[in-house]
Amino acid sequence: MNVTVSRKAHFNAAHKLYNSDWTDARNAVVFGKCSNPNFHGHNYELIVSVKGSVHPETGFVMDMKELKKMINAEIIDAFDHKNLNEEVPEFKKLNPTAENIAVVIWNKLRLKIAINLALTITLYETPRNFVTYTGE
Ligand code: NI
Repeated sequence: MNVTVSRKAHFNAAHKLYNSDWTDARNAVVFGKCSNPNFHGHNYELIVSVKGSVHPETGFVMDMKELKKMINAEIIDAFDHKNLNEEVPEFKKLNPTAENIAVVIWNKLRLKIAINLALTITLYETPRNFVTYTGE
């Protein structure tokens, strides 16, 4: 019997989307306002979901206090109020799209969460646009 537990978190961050192999004109066509060279911000909503069996002694899949601490230490402290392109090393050469941010978050948390638990990252870049990554 597997149960999924989830924790919501929030961070604000600036980014621009840009492929340095392309001309500014092509970047503007593909990325639109998100290629603005002066950057812009998003209010990111993060949902971290952990699936596994319920431990018979605690009744927990995992201790949510521990999950909260991990998300704060690994993600919020690293991303909140940062310029993702310029201040977060993972995005020095990686375009900080919602897709790539979700993969980076998954990779960071995967190292901290017990391997018998399945991890899913859902990241909202806007209230209507969100991505999901499960490590596949
Ligand atoms: Ni954007």
